[in-house]
Amino acid sequence: MDGAVMDGEDFKDAMSRHAVSVEIVTVNTTEGPVGITVSAFVSVSVDPPIVLVCVDKITGSLDAMISADGYTVNFMPQGTEDTAMLFATRGADKFGSVEWSDPETPVAGPILAEAFQVFECETIQRTEMGDHWVLYGLVRRGTVGDAKSLLYVNRGFTELR
Ligand SMILES: Cc1cc2nc3c(=O)[nH]c(=O)nc-3n(C[C@H](O)[C@H](O)[C@H](O)COP(=O)(O)O)c2cc1C
Repeated sequence: MDGAVMDGEDFKDAMSRHAVSVEIVTVNTTEGPVGITVSAFVSVSVDPPIVLVCVDKITGSLDAMISADGYTVNFMPQGTEDTAMLFATRGADKFGSVEWSDPETPVAGPILAEAFQVFECETIQRTEMGDHWVLYGLVRRGTVGDAKSLLYVNRGFTELR
């Protein structure tokens, strides 16, 4: 990547003003469930339904996320800040203190009871991009909920009015 690029701190400052919703992405491993809080989640395609999530290379859960055949996107509603922070905490016992269940799609990850809707995905492509990995997921099964998303902007959680 030749030529000038934006300063990293300025990039993070600008992105901090960009309001996003908060999801918890989970996978199953032979050693048990793994999950991280993400904001880097977007819709890529409708037909077929494809999404992507970006996983930081410094995340302890990176190997589990990349190795899994699929993942579940748990859409978190307002009022779940504590769970979002738990799943953003390195080394925490993330699944010991929340309610969860197995997905219907065998390759997907655990479903958190607090999620208001979920996408159960099969990972169809993994792309190394800068300091992140991008995991593309084909949505094998999804639910549609009725709640307001937990939002994150200006480096803090906020609520939709
Ligand atoms: C609001 C919020 C959004 C986050 N978004 C992402 C993200 O999109 N991708 C990512 O890799 N980490 C993201 N993180 C950080 C991870 O949640 C965190 O590094 C990870 O859960 C640490 O746990 P681990 O080291 O046990 O994997 C976010 C954290 C917070 C609080």
